[in-house]
Amino acid sequence: MKNQKLVYIGMSADLIHQGHLNIIREGLKLGEVYIGLLTDEAIAGYKRLPLIAFNERKLIVENLKGVEKVVPQNTLDYVPNLKKLKPDFVVHGDDWKTGVQKEVRQRVIDTLAEWGGKLVEPKYTEGISSTDLISAVKAQGITPGKRMKTLRRLIGAKPIVRILEAHNGLTGLIAEKTQIIKDGRTIEFDGIWESSLTDSTAKGKPDTELVDFSSRFSTIEEILEVTTKPMIVDGDTGGRIDHFKFRVKTLERLGVSAIIIEDKIGDKRNSLFGTTVPQEQDSIEHFSQKIHEGKKSQVTEEFMIIARVESLILQKGMDDALLRSKAYIKAGADGIMIHSKNKDGKEIIEFCTHFKKFENRVPLIVVPSTYAHMTENELKDLGVNVVIYANHLLRSAYPAMVDTAKSLLTNSRGMEASNEYCMSIKEIITLIP
Ligand code: SPV
Ligand code: MG
Repeated sequence: MKNQKLVYIGMSADLIHQGHLNIIREGLKLGEVYIGLLTDEAIAGYKRLPLIAFNERKLIVENLKGVEKVVPQNTLDYVPNLKKLKPDFVVHGDDWKTGVQKEVRQRVIDTLAEWGGKLVEPKYTEGISSTDLISAVKAQGITPGKRMKTLRRLIGAKPIVRILEAHNGLTGLIAEKTQIIKDGRTIEFDGIWESSLTDSTAKGKPDTELVDFSSRFSTIEEILEVTTKPMIVDGDTGGRIDHFKFRVKTLERLGVSAIIIEDKIGDKRNSLFGTTVPQEQDSIEHFSQKIHEGKKSQVTEEFMIIARVESLILQKGMDDALLRSKAYIKAGADGIMIHSKNKDGKEIIEFCTHFKKFENRVPLIVVPSTYAHMTENELKDLGVNVVIYANHLLRSAYPAMVDTAKSLLTNSRGMEASNEYCMSIKEIITLIP
């Protein structure tokens, strides 16, 4: 006879291993097993985006022996699903008694108590963890197609996507690997910005499209070679339309997720010069044509062409910025990057407020280099989807290197520089295993 008790098991099931099967087996001893499968949003809210997207994970779990039904769990918190299903049991490995899930566990116990349900905690399967398996998978690298898709998935799953500038393999590794623990959660960057400013500066060249795309591609590949996170490439003006169409295909082949092109024409200078140097904005018609041709030429569905509106930089006014954004979306842009060099951030706040009301809204990207006091939370509340820290690694490295050079000159030896500014020899020779 069928056991009518309902057993609820929450899991991410990004990489299935014997631990998951154990828990399901334990659940089956108690009744009918429902899996609360964490959505990409729920997982990305407290750790990295899962390697496998929700629908694929769902298909796998539905076919595991003993699983009666799979329901989406939209938050790390079990309570909404528990209140809906009122299970007799929740089964979870005993490893969640500490760490980020401790409070989640307590809420499960309290909620189940409302109808006499019980939490059952089999011993955690030692020697296996999804996190270790995922590290092993990451160490193997990633295919271009999979990497490319990740940016769209991140934008869909995370309240705000956090991107860091890189201009070579080493800085790529910093963007890839740097993590901190904040409020019990692991925080890291979601992806990489291949900046024209820092790529050019690192080569000792001005940011004027002098470093051409052959050279930029070589930096891009250098970074992709040692990372797995998605990359957004700074495409400057995108160049001539017939060249841009080829560039899009090359970036797709490499597994880059997006290119951002700015609506300037002629001699491009860095935006942060504002109107202190002559810079010309493209016509809406010509730039829209560039976006349209780029979109037509792309091979994949996933690659994104993001239009960067320079109206605020060039002091053409808010109305022009909004008008252009609408036109570029109509031309097929997958996202809008609004740039501003205003320090107080008021301009960006105003733009975002209008952008929120757009009928055909696309993801919004900002680069808060000058209005740097604004936090990710504030930007998220304004409706920003992606924040790019566009130049910070190079801006911090350069003064440190100049100080070191000066110390060598001042002291006519290396000891002071070594003690004051440098990592140890042991650290540098073991930095890259
Ligand atoms: C870059 O990083 O090269 C950019 C952003 O395009 S900005 O420097 O602000 O123009
Ligand atoms: Mg640039």
